[in-house]
Amino acid sequence: MSDLHLLKEKALKQLGTIHTLEELEAFRLEFLGKKGAITELMKGLGALSPEARSQRGADLNAVKEEILTALSQRQQELEAHALNERLKKETLDITLPGRPEEPGRIHPISHTIEEVMAIFLEQGFVVEEGPDVEDDFHNFTALNIPFDHPARQEHDTFYLKGKLGDQAAVLRTHTSPVQIRTMREQSPPFRMVALGRTFRADYDATHSPMFHQVEGLVIDKNIHMGHLKRCLSDFLKCFFEMEDLPIRFRPSFFPFTEPSAEVDIGCSKSKGTLKIGGGTDWLEILGCGMVHPNVLRNCGLDPEEYQGFAFGMGIERISMLKYGIPDLRLFYESDLRWLRHHGFSALQIPSPLLASRR
Ligand code: DAH
Repeated sequence: MSDLHLLKEKALKQLGTIHTLEELEAFRLEFLGKKGAITELMKGLGALSPEARSQRGADLNAVKEEILTALSQRQQELEAHALNERLKKETLDITLPGRPEEPGRIHPISHTIEEVMAIFLEQGFVVEEGPDVEDDFHNFTALNIPFDHPARQEHDTFYLKGKLGDQAAVLRTHTSPVQIRTMREQSPPFRMVALGRTFRADYDATHSPMFHQVEGLVIDKNIHMGHLKRCLSDFLKCFFEMEDLPIRFRPSFFPFTEPSAEVDIGCSKSKGTLKIGGGTDWLEILGCGMVHPNVLRNCGLDPEEYQGFAFGMGIERISMLKYGIPDLRLFYESDLRWLRHHGFSALQIPSPLLASRR
């Protein structure tokens, strides 16, 4: 028997004893790899005479082909076997119900901010922003609240350790400093709102150390109290979705406006529940007024040339009133059950916008 025949017999016999794909790979290397038996024999071809070489070459190729065919057949058998074993072991229970993925909800504060923003954008306002950490000048002095003014004490300010330039650094106590930034950095006319976080050291059912406000500012050459009344009445009717909402402007005081007013909306309180609109009771909802000449001067504007109005209100407060949320602390407890109940679908269009298009 020739050496090639013996080699072939040996390979085929060995193949029959192989039971894993790893063993099969070792087998392939032993016979067909770079240093395998067949490859070694191929290397010897060069030393033969041309006739002997072509005969030997053909024989070698035939043996190589036979081993390759047997190997790939064995590989298929082993793979099929492995698959069968896996199928036997891994049982998939397709009767198990799927895990439902609950869509997230929009937090009532975010939803209210979107609603407020949508109404003012429709009225032609633009949105401005300012930093949460403010300096004393923007938060107080420029707003006509000098160092010794009693209004400073009313604000329960969080003072920070560092300074901003030569100024004390504070967490802004209201969004009014954005008025100052806008007037000092841009040129009139202005028609802007700023919505964002504000901070005061206060905590109970209607106060939280962090809360949200919306600030508005309109400055032009001929702005008067009539514009202020119409702008805010329109906003409140649209926000509370009530065309006949009773609205009252009541004289008040803010250092940064003159004259100043607080705005109340009509409501009725009976048996512990509060209903917006109608009734004989009033609820204070926001502060406003004509921008004080000192504030305009502090921002480089001539009060003889430009006037305007400003307003500020608490987002939590109007959200609680509109959506019947009794305690402000609930907004920040991150209780998922509460969020599922009071949250809004991401696909919901702010309702006042729908109302204004009706
Ligand atoms: N900054 C005031 C506050 O936090 C709210 C306010 C009142 C803002 C009257 C104004 C305004 O712009 O004109 O209580």
